[in-house]
Amino acid sequence: MKILITESIAEESVQYLRDRGYEVEEYLGHSQEEIEQYIKGFDAIIVRSATKINETLLNNADCLKAVGRAGTGIDNIDVKACTEHGVIALNTPTANNMAAGELAVGHAFSIFRNLCAANEGVHNGDFRRGNWVGIELEGKTAGVIGLGRIGSIVSRKLKGVGMNVVAYDPYVPQEKFDKLGVTRCKTLDELLPICDLITLHTPKTKETYGIISKEQLYKCKRGVRIVNAARGGLVNEQDLADALADGQVAAAAIDVFDKEPSYNKAPGEQEYDNVLLHAPHCYITPHLGASTVEATAKVGQGIVELIDGALKGELVAAINMPQFSGSIEDIKPYCSLAEKIGRMYFQAEATPITKVEVRYRGELAESSGTGIITLSLMMGLLKGMGNDHVSYVNAQECMAETGIEVVETKTESIQKYNNLINVKFVTEDGRELKINGTVFGPDTEVIVSFFGYEMNCPLSDTVLALKNNDVPGVIGRIATVLGSHNINIASMHWGRKNQDGSDNPHAQAFVAIDQPVSKEIIDELSKAEGVLKVSLLELGE
Ligand code: NAD
Ligand code: MLT
Repeated sequence: MKILITESIAEESVQYLRDRGYEVEEYLGHSQEEIEQYIKGFDAIIVRSATKINETLLNNADCLKAVGRAGTGIDNIDVKACTEHGVIALNTPTANNMAAGELAVGHAFSIFRNLCAANEGVHNGDFRRGNWVGIELEGKTAGVIGLGRIGSIVSRKLKGVGMNVVAYDPYVPQEKFDKLGVTRCKTLDELLPICDLITLHTPKTKETYGIISKEQLYKCKRGVRIVNAARGGLVNEQDLADALADGQVAAAAIDVFDKEPSYNKAPGEQEYDNVLLHAPHCYITPHLGASTVEATAKVGQGIVELIDGALKGELVAAINMPQFSGSIEDIKPYCSLAEKIGRMYFQAEATPITKVEVRYRGELAESSGTGIITLSLMMGLLKGMGNDHVSYVNAQECMAETGIEVVETKTESIQKYNNLINVKFVTEDGRELKINGTVFGPDTEVIVSFFGYEMNCPLSDTVLALKNNDVPGVIGRIATVLGSHNINIASMHWGRKNQDGSDNPHAQAFVAIDQPVSKEIIDELSKAEGVLKVSLLELGE
């Protein structure tokens, strides 16, 4: 498979992909238009903040499966369009937090103590230190806008230097403010007039774009200092330049522009201008927030591992998947089980279905990850129906196209197992065929009920599901047929019905086998005396 990288990531991460057999092309320093044309034939693309994953690029792509944003912000990714195109969108939201947080704090020190201005002065022969008398951070008030991952790091560090930290974030609970020892401002207007420093840490959204403009700047204390290491445009650039010229803002430190320059071009090659480049007391870094050795390594490795997983069809934490609060690792075994249950249906039964009801029982019912487990069930069912392109991102849409209704319910009540997935397939002739399964450990997925037969059968990749008369001699005949074709039986499990004196006892066997079986062998087994039905369940990748 082919992977396109349009903005540089750590060389070891590129090698990681090559070592796994991917054909990787680093296509650096090209324009957006060139990238949009070049995308054909690539299965995945890795970008940072400059390349836009937009409708045009997605329309031009002919086999794109995954987009990897090596970094946090996803304002350059049209996530909705990715979902519509069935493309998995991934990012590394935690890998560069510390780097970005430290940069913001570094900028705060710098503009409180005039470090950049003094440095420039002495290099121009001006050693008059009286020109660069600063103010101390200790005892001053810092206002953090956006108390997410980076805002929290910045708050902790600024408190550590003795600042009084207040924050405005309408979306995080009071508990978080309390834990950080940060005073909550219920409105932005409450925060603005009390701060000596304002540092922004929100994403760029319709709501946050221009959140600090002329009106807000003039609600601040005269001589306020501003740091923006989040996203360009959160602070209106023209308004900030004017307020700096006027002295309303004493100094600003900016890591990000509304319209970003190219970060690859050498001096002289760059045709870029911005009003802030000419504003007094405005100190600028070229989007350096994530640029540490540690963050570069973490972001690069994080994104290539996700891309590798996504291209292999594994469950990975994608932006355009239902979000849940736990760890993906905790629900992975249930996702695997649910996908297998979905795949089993059409391998075991030919009757079309109109509805699938999935019920999560026990502790599983409390998990916010059941939506993802249900997607796995849909994926399995759809794969069983011949859909080779289904993924976590488009499973719901593909399912809707089939007209099969999928309903998810939960109950915390426990029957026999701490966690149970009950799946009911409602056939078009009105029957209800049920498969129930549970997980005993990370690798032990167990079917506990299959089409009405209670059993306890650990799943393996290839299973023969045999329905037979529950009379002596049948097992021997099955084993003989398989043995005559050199097929090794790995394990056998039964569920039985009508044992209580009925003259028609039946059994359902799950026979795990080590070698593939041909249609001829299945036919031969079907003809064995006492065997009623044979289905081959292929459940591996
Ligand atoms: P996050 O999602 O963890 O936190 C963002 C916070 O902003 C959330 O708590 C959210 O509730 C809050 N928020 C959203 N809308 C708001 C509003 N209208 N008013 C107040 N708060 C609001 O994100 P993060 O990982 O902390 O990243 C923060 C920003 O930093 C993002 O814009 C990201 O792109 C940027 N970033 C920049 C660099 C860099 O190199 N300069 C590096 C990493 C991240
Ligand atoms: C991010 O959002 O991760 C940062 O802006 C850094 C980057 O884009 O490289």
